[in-house]
Parts: sequence; structure tokens; C-alpha cells
Amino acid sequence: MLAPLLTADQIQSRVAELAKEIRSVYRDEPILLIVVLKGSYVFAADLARAIGEPVEIDFVQLSSYGNGKQASGIVQIRKDADISCEGRHVLVVEDIVDSGATLKHLRELLSTRRPKTLQVVSLLSKPKARQVDVPIEFLGFEVPNEFVVGYGLDFAEKYRSLPYVAILRED
Ligand code: PRP
Repeated sequence: MLAPLLTADQIQSRVAELAKEIRSVYRDEPILLIVVLKGSYVFAADLARAIGEPVEIDFVQLSSYGNGKQASGIVQIRKDADISCEGRHVLVVEDIVDSGATLKHLRELLSTRRPKTLQVVSLLSKPKARQVDVPIEFLGFEVPNEFVVGYGLDFAEKYRSLPYVAILRED
């Protein structure tokens, strides 16, 4: 069963606010968005258009969940970025920070690549699920410790194209 948590309208207004916040920090300097596939693709598409030029977009894919609901705790790089981070304002775009393991790993990796600045925007955060401390400079919403889907987030590859976020409950 899907229990709606955030409506499409709530998400869109928050994305607009986040984009404003982000632009006020970076001003008119170019930002390199490093989008964490797959879940963040919907958020990144809306956010990039709301932020506006100048932005560059690249993608990384890491994996920790496989096809189930449980994190394996092992973070693997499946696809690395093509654009160099060196000397750029790098902004990591995440859909959700759960245990924090994926983001911690990614922050550590990217910080070795000499970016001018390195910050993170995440649409969602599950503070109750956190196992490692990791900063999120721009955050959309805190969500309860439940399995959430929609707006890019999946369960076994389903529900990514829902325009809203819902809690997935077994019944
Ligand atoms: C999700 C999400 C984050 C990560 C967060 O990705 O997009 O990258 O898990 O979990 P963590 O904080 O516990 O590390 P997932 O592995 O489900 O891949 P997907 O985005 O391709 O569905």
C-alpha cells in the first residue's frame, strides 16, 4: 500500500526554494552538479532547471541496496563522473540520505579530487536511520524512518515515476 507523504506541489515549491538558496550561495558562478543515480534523476532534472545556468551536470552511480529494502552497508562505484571536479564548485545531488554510508563515501572520494568547494543537496533525509554522521548543506525534507518511494525513489525499480513521495507499507 502507498501512503502519500509529500505531494507533487509540496515537492515543487521546496525545489524552488532550494534552488533560490543554492543560487544565493554560489551567485552567478558555475556549479557542477554530481547527480547520484538512479534515484536522484527526477530531483536533479527539476532542481537544475530551477537553479538555472551556469550549471554543468554529471552522474555517478553507487550501490548499497541492491533490489531489496535493506542496505548492504557496502558502497560500490558502478559509474564514475566524466567531468573533472578540480577547481569546480561541486554540488552533490542526492534523493535521500538514509544510513549516510553512500554520501560519506562519495564526499570522501570527491574531496580527494580538489574541488573548489564541495557541498550536498538532498531532497530527503531520514535522521532516525543515520548510522554515520555526514553533513547535508541543503535539505528538502526530513522524513520518518519508513521505506519511501516515488519522485525517483524505487522499490525493486518500481514507483520511480510517481510525481509524489509515498510510504510503502506491506499489507
Ligand atoms: C539510495 C539513495 C542513496 C542511498 C542512501 O540509492 O539514492 O544514494 O540509497 O542510502 P544510505 O544513506 O543508507 O547509504 P540506492 O542504492 O537505492 O540506488 P538507486 O538510487 O539506484 O535506487
